[in-house]
Amino acid sequence: IKRDSKFTKLTEEHVKFFKELLGSESAVIDGVTQDATEDIEPFNSDWMRKFRGHTQLVLKPSNKEELSKVLRYCNENMLAVVPQGGNSGLVGGSVPVFDEIVINLQKMNKIRSFDEISGVLVADAGVILENADNYLAERNHIFPLDLGAKGSCQIGGNVATNAGGLRLLRYGSLHGNVLGIEAVLPDGTIVDDLGTLRKNNTGYDLKQLFIGAEGTIGIITGVSIQCAARSQAVNVAYFGLESYEKVQEAYRTAKGQLAEILSAFELMDGRTQKLVNRVTGKKMPLEGEYPFYCLVETSGSNTDHDAEKLQAFLEHVMESEIVLDGTLADNQTQIKELWSWREGITEVLGHEGGVYKYDLSIPISELYDLVNDTRDRLTEAGLVGDGPDYPVVDVVGYGHMGDANLHLNIPTRGFSKEVEKQLEPFVYEWVQKRNGSISAEHGLGVTKKPYVSYSKNETMMKLMKQIKDLYDPKGIMNPYKYI
Ligand code: FAD
Ligand code: MLT
Ligand code: ZN
Repeated sequence: IKRDSKFTKLTEEHVKFFKELLGSESAVIDGVTQDATEDIEPFNSDWMRKFRGHTQLVLKPSNKEELSKVLRYCNENMLAVVPQGGNSGLVGGSVPVFDEIVINLQKMNKIRSFDEISGVLVADAGVILENADNYLAERNHIFPLDLGAKGSCQIGGNVATNAGGLRLLRYGSLHGNVLGIEAVLPDGTIVDDLGTLRKNNTGYDLKQLFIGAEGTIGIITGVSIQCAARSQAVNVAYFGLESYEKVQEAYRTAKGQLAEILSAFELMDGRTQKLVNRVTGKKMPLEGEYPFYCLVETSGSNTDHDAEKLQAFLEHVMESEIVLDGTLADNQTQIKELWSWREGITEVLGHEGGVYKYDLSIPISELYDLVNDTRDRLTEAGLVGDGPDYPVVDVVGYGHMGDANLHLNIPTRGFSKEVEKQLEPFVYEWVQKRNGSISAEHGLGVTKKPYVSYSKNETMMKLMKQIKDLYDPKGIMNPYKYI
């Protein structure tokens, strides 16, 4: 793709305007006036170091009024922008493609209010997810979303990507939990839809458009969100299993026997666990090695009741040989340790060079078939093996089993056109044939842009474009991305 010539190039005059508006502290500048206050590089490249833009300006507004003035000026002057939260996104959506101005939300990081009776939290979009959850923990509540990037991602970024994470199975999607949104449109209009009502049937639910829009129609500045009471009794079990069929049986049994206390059911294949073991050097949780593992978490309010249920579940899955071995954690340290075998996968995958990541919704019965089929395909093409002659290190699968969300990952020894040709559109066609989704929870960004049609038909694309044109008629919001 080429830089769109309709966008203005940044000048000293623009920079002067922003500096006067925000103060030099909040305008990280590179190249234009040679007085950079901070390294601009981290804002230009994404978490995976796969995408790199060339912005010369990062703006950090402190409140919605400042942001409104920034956006109105950008809109009037045809300056393209990229909204950026914690920059932990995995589809290249949070960094510029060319010289778009980065608008980073990190200075808008205040909790605005929390109601202990209703459990509704109202907070700035730039609050880091972990900070929000720690704040809630002190008040015996839990943020309804948790994911491996919690220490850096922002709740505004979570809402903008409609992130799913580790406990969607229990708390549901952000489309249900987000009760209100405050946002700024490209023309500077402040959209105040920051209601805190659980029920509100008054016409179109416009806030839903911002959930998962990936910064293409406006910038979210505030969020109100329904939070549940924090469970006092949390237990985690980690199992080794002989096949994917057994994982499905374990999941069915967990749903039946653990029912309302089941709070997560995560799938990891043996290859991911060996990789974590190899890269971190940590001893594996179980003695033997198994082709599949799953992590089951329960959260409830009564320790004895939960322990009793869990015990019955454990006995059943062990005796009926649904699982071959398992270990249990019931204190914070052990629980964190077991979770690290699941949450740590993302980080270790990039260890050898690169990784092709696919985040897919697939009917649960066929979910792991894709990993096998992809591995067969790459093996037949002679691309998988040990040593530098083979571009592909491995083909692995893990994910949110309870949500039928597979993460198919292909760690490689660097970028390879040959590997890419084998994978795409193969993976997308495979998913389309099963009426799955090419993006379950990470979004589309730039990575999935050429493949949207595998999950959205022409009419849906047309309707999406109409919305985009309505909210962002000049197209300055996160251009070159999926829409
Ligand atoms: P960014 O990466 O900064 O931005 C993501 C997108 O949202 C971009 O398009 C950006 O333009 C837009 N955006 C950001 N902030 C705003 C805003 N305020 N207003 C409008 N648009 C905005 N994702 C999951 O769904 N589930 C997981 O389990 C999960 N685990 C992860 C684990 C690791 C280790 C990592 C690195 C990532 C993981 N992710 C996961 C992906 C990522 O963390 C999420 O997509 C997260 O929600 C992004 O938040 P962020 O603040 O970092 O947003
Ligand atoms: C996860 O579930 O670990 C995240 O979505 C990140 C990833 O896909 O690697
Ligand atoms: Zn995930």
